[in-house]
Amino acid sequence: MTILITGGAGYIGSHTCIELITASYDIVVLDNLSNSQNTVLDRIKKITKAIIPFENVDLRDTEALEAVFKKYNISAVIHFAGLKSVNESINKPIEYYDNNIAGTINLCKVMHQFDVKKMIFSSSAVVYGNPETVPIKENFPLSTFNPYGQSKLMTEQILNDIFISDNDWQIALLRYFNPVGAHKSGLIGEAPGGIPSNLMPYLSQVAVGKLDKLHVFGGDYDTPDGTCIRDFIHVVDLAKGHVKALDYFKNKKKGEVLTLNLGTGKGYSVLELIHTFQDITGKKIPYDIVDRRPGDIVISYASPELAEKVLSWKAEESLEDMCRDTWRWQSQNPSGYE
Ligand code: UD1
Repeated sequence: MTILITGGAGYIGSHTCIELITASYDIVVLDNLSNSQNTVLDRIKKITKAIIPFENVDLRDTEALEAVFKKYNISAVIHFAGLKSVNESINKPIEYYDNNIAGTINLCKVMHQFDVKKMIFSSSAVVYGNPETVPIKENFPLSTFNPYGQSKLMTEQILNDIFISDNDWQIALLRYFNPVGAHKSGLIGEAPGGIPSNLMPYLSQVAVGKLDKLHVFGGDYDTPDGTCIRDFIHVVDLAKGHVKALDYFKNKKKGEVLTLNLGTGKGYSVLELIHTFQDITGKKIPYDIVDRRPGDIVISYASPELAEKVLSWKAEESLEDMCRDTWRWQSQNPSGYE
């Protein structure tokens, strides 16, 4: 059983490769390396001792994609490939829809052509927009405010429609909360290009001295300390959720669309994260509280109960573990994979 991992050289993809190999799945990584480096594959090899077939292919290139499906006996796809910056998506909507939607449609076409009907899709809590209450359950209303979010929501819709047309498909829509942390080896982790826009990579680059100071966006929210609250989840826990989803489909055989939150169910504020990071690493994080960032959700955390019930999966790593592992990666690789 060979699993194709699109975007397998990226942050969540690379951690998922390791967990799949550990669980004895054969994998093929497909990535166009637009936001990742192939050195990550050497690191995965170092950790797992496995040689991973790699295809430098863009999902919009039909011929190249067909060649990949011809070459390997693929039985399922875990689909991570896509652009992921909210801000960038507002300025470059065409690029985002082309990569994320056209790329996915092409992938589905080729899967259909080769009779591969098992797909795990990397969705996001962004699809809940601004939730009225927390914890967020899978049946909450869906809405988004930007092309990135739209691309996740549209992809969910497309995959739901594919299932309606053919009930043999097994599809998991995994809605991630805020992935942070890194592999315990310190060999792989998050390596954003340019200046990070997400909190943890920004914070860890301040800690390692690459950036001067963290800007905390908004200190006057209606929360205990005035800063936003998020459900930070260790990337390895998240990766294990994908293995559980594959195992579930393997055992179940019947078609289904499984829509699940992957989060811890715990909310921590931005300041709590900063203080925990300081305590764990002993590094002082200079920060200023500045204006709110437009579009930010105030409080977001998951109800992870459905994933636990259906997949027997539960996030295990603590906020302290997430900080410790982020720091190990960042301090050992101040310039990421370069
Ligand atoms: C963001 C995206 C979300 C996407 C996710 C991917 C927005 C509005 N949302 O989520 O759609 O799925 O990334 O990981 O961009 N913060 C600071 N200073 C910083 C960076 C962030 O104070 O330099 C704060 C933010 O205001 C927010 C919290 O930290 O309150 C988390 O921010 P971030 O890491 O960007 O994640 P989300 O906004 O939750």
